[in-house]
Amino acid sequence: MNTIKRIGVLTSGGDCAGLNAVISSVVLAASKKGWEVYGIHNGTDGITEKPHSYEILTVHNFSDSPWPRLSGSYLGSLNKGVKMESLEEMSAKFAVGVKELGLDAVVVIGGDGSMNIVSNYCKGSMVKMIGIPKTIDNDTPITEDSVGFQTAVQVCTSAIDSLEFTARSHNRALIMEVMGRDAGHLAISSALAGQADVCLVPEIPYTIEGVINRLKEIKASGRNHAVIVVSEGIRTADGNHLSDKKNMVGESVYGGIGQYLCDEISKRYKEFQIRTTTLGHIQRSGTPSAFDRMLGAMFGAKAVNLLASGEDCKMVIWKDGRVDSVPLAEVSKVGTKLLDINSDIVKSARSLGMYIGEI
Ligand code: F6P
Repeated sequence: MNTIKRIGVLTSGGDCAGLNAVISSVVLAASKKGWEVYGIHNGTDGITEKPHSYEILTVHNFSDSPWPRLSGSYLGSLNKGVKMESLEEMSAKFAVGVKELGLDAVVVIGGDGSMNIVSNYCKGSMVKMIGIPKTIDNDTPITEDSVGFQTAVQVCTSAIDSLEFTARSHNRALIMEVMGRDAGHLAISSALAGQADVCLVPEIPYTIEGVINRLKEIKASGRNHAVIVVSEGIRTADGNHLSDKKNMVGESVYGGIGQYLCDEISKRYKEFQIRTTTLGHIQRSGTPSAFDRMLGAMFGAKAVNLLASGEDCKMVIWKDGRVDSVPLAEVSKVGTKLLDINSDIVKSARSLGMYIGEI
């Protein structure tokens, strides 16, 4: 018999479009089952910190408000992980907080970093948990799509479209640096959609000569402008990252590679003026796409149904047009989902003449 009476829901890691659609779905589905829902503020901090920070969420918070349609996180999020304490200490604190709040289960909406942490919390405590993947990087393994990715692709594609007009007016090659950490999904998807001329991703080595050769080809074809998309996680030509800065969970902190490329290309090739745009956190916002809202709604409902049927320590996934679930332990075992260099998207980009590196 299912004994759930009260669950918590929280958002963890960098925000993205569609989070509120997920929260709304969890609240609506849980309310249908007669469960109480605590919306936990600021990621796991709302549970581990004292006083605990949360609010009781009812259908009125979402069915009669614009929130499910908006970006950001209604609950607030946290992109710094386990702070300075060890995973064991945090796991213990989390279990105590869950008990004090009287939660029978927690739904964690997070990226791959959050899923690793949650997977450890599952092991270290008796807390029932279900993960829902969200990230603009789309690097959470096993699931084909995470909430927020498709909207970010749309934002980046619109930015390429905007850059194309001004590049055309000024005889320029414009570089656009996008996020994505060590995965090139966001870069290649938007570069293909926006018909960029060059797309550099962390998974494929490139040379400055390769980029310049593509620019020369464009010039020779009579076109006077170009757009270059670069993923923040690519290395410099000598194979190093621009900086070895890490965040508090040991993930690399990127930024600035677009300007590096701009300088390197400008030194050796003068036919186009080169400029750089770093899209930054704009990629984490925008009007959530219909797909992200639909995915969020399905993921939220699935998470509640899993808990209702006694399941635990699972992450919901999107695969072959269906929602399913896998054990959280499997997710952390697989690790970050990188771009498959033999995938159709990479092959398509090459077939269209895009320079995407040397493999
Ligand atoms: O993981 C999501 C993400 O947006 C990455 O693409 C990016 O590198 C990072 O978060 C930025 O983190 P912050 O918001 O802490 O600057």
